[in-house]
Amino acid sequence: MVSSSIKFIYNNKICRIENSDPNKTVLDYIRNDLKKNGTKEGCAEGGCGACTVVLGELKDKKIIYKSINSCISFLPSIDGKQLILVENLISKKNKLHPIQNAMVKFHGSQCGFCTPGFVMSLFAMYKNHTKFNEEIIEETLSGNLCRCTGYRPIIDAAKSLNNKKGNDHFKRDQKKIINLLKRINNNELEISYRNKKYYSPKTLSNLKKIIRKNPKSNFLSGGTDLSLEVTKLRGEIDNIISLNSVKELKFVKKKKKFIEVGAGVSLYDFQNIIKSYYLDFYNILKRYGSVQIRNVGTIAGNIATASSIGDTLPLLLSLDSIVKIQTKSSIRIIPLNEFFLSYRKTKLKKGDFIYSVIIPINKQNHFKAYKISKRFDDDISNVCASFNLMIKKNKIVEAKIAYGGMSEIPRRALAIEKKLTNSIFTEEVFFKAQNLIKKDFSPIDDMRASKNYRIEIAKNLLMKFFYEISTKKNIRVNQ
Ligand SMILES: Cc1cc2nc3c(=O)[nH]c(=O)nc-3n(C[C@H](O)[C@H](O)[C@H](O)COP(=O)(O)OP(=O)(O)OC[C@H]3O[C@@H](n4cnc5c(N)ncnc54)[C@H](O)[C@@H]3O)c2cc1C
Ligand code: FES
Ligand code: FES
Repeated sequence: MVSSSIKFIYNNKICRIENSDPNKTVLDYIRNDLKKNGTKEGCAEGGCGACTVVLGELKDKKIIYKSINSCISFLPSIDGKQLILVENLISKKNKLHPIQNAMVKFHGSQCGFCTPGFVMSLFAMYKNHTKFNEEIIEETLSGNLCRCTGYRPIIDAAKSLNNKKGNDHFKRDQKKIINLLKRINNNELEISYRNKKYYSPKTLSNLKKIIRKNPKSNFLSGGTDLSLEVTKLRGEIDNIISLNSVKELKFVKKKKKFIEVGAGVSLYDFQNIIKSYYLDFYNILKRYGSVQIRNVGTIAGNIATASSIGDTLPLLLSLDSIVKIQTKSSIRIIPLNEFFLSYRKTKLKKGDFIYSVIIPINKQNHFKAYKISKRFDDDISNVCASFNLMIKKNKIVEAKIAYGGMSEIPRRALAIEKKLTNSIFTEEVFFKAQNLIKKDFSPIDDMRASKNYRIEIAKNLLMKFFYEISTKKNIRVNQ
């Protein structure tokens, strides 16, 4: 069934919004229509966390709580979900939530602008985890920026939650909410608002039909790039086809020699899948934006954006990944290495969408990746480098090396790869190879970094890789 109204759960009730502007953000709806002003607008581009709200979603008959940046989420994205605002944390008996109590007790409530966002990020953590160690707390707070006081009281408040048993009124209402969520999860959404259209099909076959009728539409995955056309550039997007509800795109196939990740898998879910294959991939993803960004952003969106500083791209390139593209008539398989054409241009034609990405698994290879950015968390790379070497008996048999931030598209370092391949794994060879960086890349000066800085960093990362893997037991370094 197709419906034109956005249905969601708010305050334990089903709410409906009829034919709303699909470019309206969740934040604008909350503040201007619901008149709930606890949620704040800071940057309006996903960077500060002041607008954090939580969405409850059904997964395997359980509710998963996802913190999101409401400032860059289009309103239809709450369809089929539970919307939880900071105002909803107080119980009907007017009691503060355990998170709020902890923030009061440990003086974590510092300024009125950021505190609601901090509270909502901690709320999602409280609901999704049972133990709160430093790693989980730091990850949880990585998308909430404080510039006034610091994080210690907030971290102390979060640690104190370890003594609580996860009880709150959301736990008590859980069964009721699950039943309500089931009731609103059946329909496909199709909104017509003035000259704008928004489609959210649930199946691949319906998606294909909609694309055939609307070939010039924009695909929406997490919206962490696309929505900024509205919130930052003040533009309008007339036709949107959301890929988020297509179940067939939310899959992970694990095989011995590769894993295949569907376009609809969020970066947050992907980080936990890739961890057991490539630890450094996981480490880079943990520094990708914030939990709020990774909860909605997808690996397919990162690939389609084709940004020179897209963090997953050099890693996927050095792993020799392959993209599966759904064209009008068939599935096309393209090595990622051939996918990027020029600045933000790819082999995707209008109406084509990324179906999945295939990542080869080669556990005996030496794989490492590094992200250099001004801030550790929630920042875009200046340079991102990824190295994937097969070494046999101290000889480099295969070298796959890619850099982001060094040219208009993320690219393999072919001259360096050639120099290393079939060489003995020695410091001298790497010293010679690093001087080829200028043959491979001619980076630009921009607000993030100068050309010379990028070149030096790229050279140093190659040497860092050498020193790090040469300290591994199985590699003998010939001096
Ligand atoms: C605060 C903030 C922090 C960020 N931090 C980082 C970071 O650390 N590292 C980094 O690399 N990026 C970062 N980004 C950029 C952003 O997260 C990426 O570009 C992201 O991967 C986009 O994915 P998405 O699913 O949100 O795509 P969307 O925004 O939904 O789409 C992006 C583009 O891809 C197209 N598209 C989406 N899915 C498909 C598909 N399946 N097939 C074909 N086309 C598709 C859309 O039409 C659109 O043109 C950040 C963004 C913000 C706002
Ligand atoms: S207002 Fe800053 S992240 Fe939304
Ligand atoms: S808590 Fe708002 S700037 Fe520090």
